[in-house]
Amino acid sequence: MGTVPVDDGRHLVLIGMMGVGKSSVGRRLALRLGRQFLDTDKMVEEEAGCTVADIFAGEGEAAFRTLEAAAVRKALDSQPYAVIAFGGGAVLDPITRGLARQLALVVWLQAPARELARRVSASMRRSGGAARPLLAPGRSTEQVLDEIARAREDAYKSAAHVLVDTAGRSPGQAATAVLVATGWPVQ
Ligand code: S3P
Repeated sequence: MGTVPVDDGRHLVLIGMMGVGKSSVGRRLALRLGRQFLDTDKMVEEEAGCTVADIFAGEGEAAFRTLEAAAVRKALDSQPYAVIAFGGGAVLDPITRGLARQLALVVWLQAPARELARRVSASMRRSGGAARPLLAPGRSTEQVLDEIARAREDAYKSAAHVLVDTAGRSPGQAATAVLVATGWPVQ
């Protein structure tokens, strides 16, 4: 990982845990870079005609991961170069990690589990309680997110070119931090 110029004919991919702000930061980055914004969760939902939560509930996580891997390939194959938010678990697939590193500048957004839990709870309230399939009812959201983040740390690290800490930052401030970390002139 290090500082890399972003304007080098590659997609800009955001990875990291659920709740870290990949979609809200990604939308702002796309606006500031004049690029389209793609979100692999939304692509899966459009393809399947139902929500991510419905797929987990009806067909299971493995079926979701297959659809997610296909959405990742489609996003990375698309033109013009975009800002792409991956679902939080997309980089568990080693082929996805390899493709993303090869075809994109990959930015790992990070925040402590306590902040992730706050943001996930706020977004669930905003969306009227939309299900987060990996959160176990009756268990502390912060604890579950902390466990998942630890289990995925190596996958995120090996996929990422650049790490950006979003703790205490608004989506706009986090977008600026991404532009600074990638060497893109901040607008
Ligand atoms: C998941 C994260 C979610 C979604 C699915 C699984 C994960 O996306 O893909 O619920 O495994 O971390 P976000 O990271 O956009 O919330």
